[in-house]
Amino acid sequence: MKTVLVLHGINLNMFGKRDPVHYDTITLKEIDGQIAELAASLGCAVECFQTNHEGEMASRIHQAHDDGIDAVIINAGAWTHYSYGISDALAILKVPIVEVHMSNVHARDAFRHHSVFSHVVKGQICGFGVHSYLLGLRAAWSMIKDA
Ligand code: DQA
Repeated sequence: MKTVLVLHGINLNMFGKRDPVHYDTITLKEIDGQIAELAASLGCAVECFQTNHEGEMASRIHQAHDDGIDAVIINAGAWTHYSYGISDALAILKVPIVEVHMSNVHARDAFRHHSVFSHVVKGQICGFGVHSYLLGLRAAWSMIKDA
């Protein structure tokens, strides 16, 4: 069975408690639940991981490489905009990577308009709340299901 790894970065454990205008009131646990439900209906396995520590995120990406994960979905939170360390870690992977954001980052502060992952991801989905993740999973699945 194909496995998709969903990575949540810094501060995303606080979904449900932070900035409901941009992130709604859904919790990370509920987001992961919806992802797991969709994965089951598609017929793929999914693993979800969250950390607030950049080195732990890099190590989880290295592990994904060694495990032979089939695709990655990443919402790295603010790291998206400046972490060359996470960008370099993602660049090690040979599998499709989809970048997602709950909020429409392009309609927000200027520093959120730029992603340092753009050159290593297949595409980006933002602005649809939890559906950004679900659309990201569908996009990842479409790239790996017949491979
Ligand atoms: C976010 C957008 C980022 O700019 C922000 O730093 C986050 C969440 C999103 O899901 O909309 O923490 O990635």
